Amino acid sequence: MSPKKRNPAGSTARQVVNEAYKKGSKDVVERVTCQVYSRRELAEKTLSWAFSMVELNVKEFYGDSWSPREKQRELKSDHAQFIFVRVVLILFPALDLHEDDRGVRDGFASFRFCVEDDEAILYIYELQVDEKVRGKGIGKHMLKLLEEVAAHMKMSKVILTVHKSNERAIAFYRSQG
Ligand SMILES: CC(C)(COP(=O)(O)OP(=O)(O)OC[C@H]1O[C@@H](n2cnc3c(N)ncnc32)[C@H](O)[C@@H]1OP(=O)(O)O)[C@@H](O)C(=O)NCCC(=O)NCCS
Repeated sequence: MSPKKRNPAGSTARQVVNEAYKKGSKDVVERVTCQVYSRRELAEKTLSWAFSMVELNVKEFYGDSWSPREKQRELKSDHAQFIFVRVVLILFPALDLHEDDRGVRDGFASFRFCVEDDEAILYIYELQVDEKVRGKGIGKHMLKLLEEVAAHMKMSKVILTVHKSNERAIAFYRSQG
């Protein structure tokens, strides 16, 4: 059954799987998918979603220096690369609902390859996990992926900046060493 087809009772496959998941069915598993994109491969609506996530999660830490225009310019830069994550429910073993892509994800990282002080580095611009799926190891997983990408591309370092007032993010980065 395709995710959008309705069964005779009128429920979509997605509703059936969500219901089974809520009831704790052992046949439904949660899985995190990650996809890598360059900026040119992304639709405007995905970039708008990424911007609203940044605005929602970290605007408060910028204070007066918050500039929506500057942040949008940063996200839309031709140099920007992205990892998008999505938490999907899979009805074991037959039905994978991953294909219903509404352009909305559960988190993302944006990064660039650049040179600083004569060193090739991977610079993480954003690391954002939707509030509803935090604490499941997704941030950690994205960070690890970024480190692997950096090693694969022979970057000498992975760098990011975090606002001093963003205590939650600092605690997260500290926990990752
Ligand atoms: C920071 C953020 C990316 C963490 O993502 P997450 O998916 O919830 O984190 P994880 O579940 O992968 O947690 C990984 C580790 O960090 C620790 N951690 C996560 N959030 C924490 C918090 N608020 N306080 C203390 N430790 C925390 C977890 O205990 C876990 O430790 P472990 O490795 O020993 O198990 C997420 O909170 C977020 O998107 N925040 C808003 C955006 C933001 O501030 N981004 C950073 C900008 S620089």
